[in-house]
Amino acid sequence: MDEKVKIIEIPKISDQRGNLSFISYGNPIPFDIKNVFYIYDIPGGTKRGGHAHKKLEQILIPLSGSFDVVVKDTKNESVIHLNRPNRGLYIGPLIWREMKNFSSGSVCLVVASLKYDEKDYLRDFAEFIRYIRK
Ligand code: TYD
Repeated sequence: MDEKVKIIEIPKISDQRGNLSFISYGNPIPFDIKNVFYIYDIPGGTKRGGHAHKKLEQILIPLSGSFDVVVKDTKNESVIHLNRPNRGLYIGPLIWREMKNFSSGSVCLVVASLKYDEKDYLRDFAEFIRYIRK
């Protein structure tokens, strides 16, 4: 899973007025950004994700608050806690992910390498395993 799940350090410009971070193509985003979306007003106890992508790459950024991301492939599973707006999580293709334990008021920004296309999703875990093995 090493290359397909990794922490991305996002540049941070700090001065007495606060912090400014940027997510530009090349630094730190390793793909052309085709879609940007954000998840917010998340009720307590909610789980999101619960799918993999065939081709899409994305980076999850906790703009505010914190949450956990569970990532799985056929062999490994790990949980990554995201709680800093200048630290994102890159997830490549064919990685199952679930987001949970959202703190109250949290906001998750997602930048993705492809536009939304339901055909790129694997939403059933058994289908995901079959897709990888074929
Ligand atoms: P989904 O990817 O399942 O959200 P999450 O992984 O956070 O649980 O998307 C939720 C819904 O939003 C689903 O019906 C597809 C729709 N959607 C769009 O219409 N456009 C988009 O760009 C995205 C990412 C999702």
